[in-house]
Amino acid sequence: MRPRIILGIETSCDETAAALLVDGKIISDRTTRQTMHEQYGGVVPELASRAHERLLAPAIDGVLADAGMKITDIEAVAVTYGPGLAGALLVGVALAKGLAAALNIPVYAVNHIEGHIWAVEMSLMGNRADESGCQLRRVDSPDALVEWLPMPFLGLIVSGGHTILLRVEGFRCYVKLCSTRDDAAGELFDKVGRMLGLAFPAGADIDRLALNFKDKPFYFPRARFTDQQPAFSFSGLKTAVSHYLKNHPELFDAEGNASDATRRMICRGVMESVVDMLVWQVGHFLAGGDYRALVIGGGVSASQFLRRHWERLAADYRIPLFIPPPQHCTDNGAMVAYTGWKMALAGIPPAIDSLAVEPALSLFKSLV
Ligand code: KG4
Ligand code: ZN
Repeated sequence: MRPRIILGIETSCDETAAALLVDGKIISDRTTRQTMHEQYGGVVPELASRAHERLLAPAIDGVLADAGMKITDIEAVAVTYGPGLAGALLVGVALAKGLAAALNIPVYAVNHIEGHIWAVEMSLMGNRADESGCQLRRVDSPDALVEWLPMPFLGLIVSGGHTILLRVEGFRCYVKLCSTRDDAAGELFDKVGRMLGLAFPAGADIDRLALNFKDKPFYFPRARFTDQQPAFSFSGLKTAVSHYLKNHPELFDAEGNASDATRRMICRGVMESVVDMLVWQVGHFLAGGDYRALVIGGGVSASQFLRRHWERLAADYRIPLFIPPPQHCTDNGAMVAYTGWKMALAGIPPAIDSLAVEPALSLFKSLV
């Protein structure tokens, strides 16, 4: 029997998240971002695990209470088992296995990157997030709202840990087109944010500051690759920003703080460079393919600055653009539950007792 009521658990990094889905639709959804990492300028793995341990059970109680359900109503658990921080993943997986054993229900082992791929489809399924005034963008496609994404689509997952471009022909039919050779785009934002004294994670602040800069932006370099070896690369840009700031001490006050004007100028220059690199590579694949949609997911897809460029690009190629609402761009339990639900629909067997975390899990590992 296919499970209808699925609990999703996400603890791969610094968001502790749980959600309940019934027949693929979100019934309740809670995400807590662990703020204690802000003072360290990055996620401290040990603190993340301890915080998950403290926050996860209340998050599950919370989604059950929000949905007016009892724990025995849950018919399956879906949990992220990789990629991510080992200790953080362990907390979610251990709790999921314990729940599944106690309730005698299946547990689906979800790949975090796969969750990001399908987050937007989850929103298209007429979920609450969709109804609350969002956020979903369809460009150049006036026909009725689709329930399922048009295939094949070009999928870009761009987050703090990943920048990967895929051809998606269906569930579990993915062809990797290219990925980053070094830092992920979100990682770049977080590192630049640290140089500018912004709170971690810095992506949303950088996005806002870049949008508020009205002058001619400073030109930072762009990395481009040949057709034979397509790739993304963001570490050169990080180094360029670092050199620029070191060579311009006048941009900082006596306490070493950058002014708002400096922050806006640097953030705008960084954003312009990131946009160029992402849009150029994505446009290159759109030009050479038969793609019927452009789908973007992962924390960086929440960027308003980038969205404008995605909209223009999708319009140029006359295909619809799909981006999840902001709360489902970043890590969340609903996308994990939804992917587990798709796995069940596809007849993929639930995980057995040997389910173990895989911190370096690749998207393709879970397909075998
Ligand atoms: O998907 P996610 O929550 O976690 C990972 O799987 O990595 O992505 C987190 C990343 C962080 O690097 C954060 O700075 C970035 O997404 N981010 C943003 C925005 N919101 C979060 N980047 C640009 N604009 C935003 N609005
Ligand atoms: Zn993520």
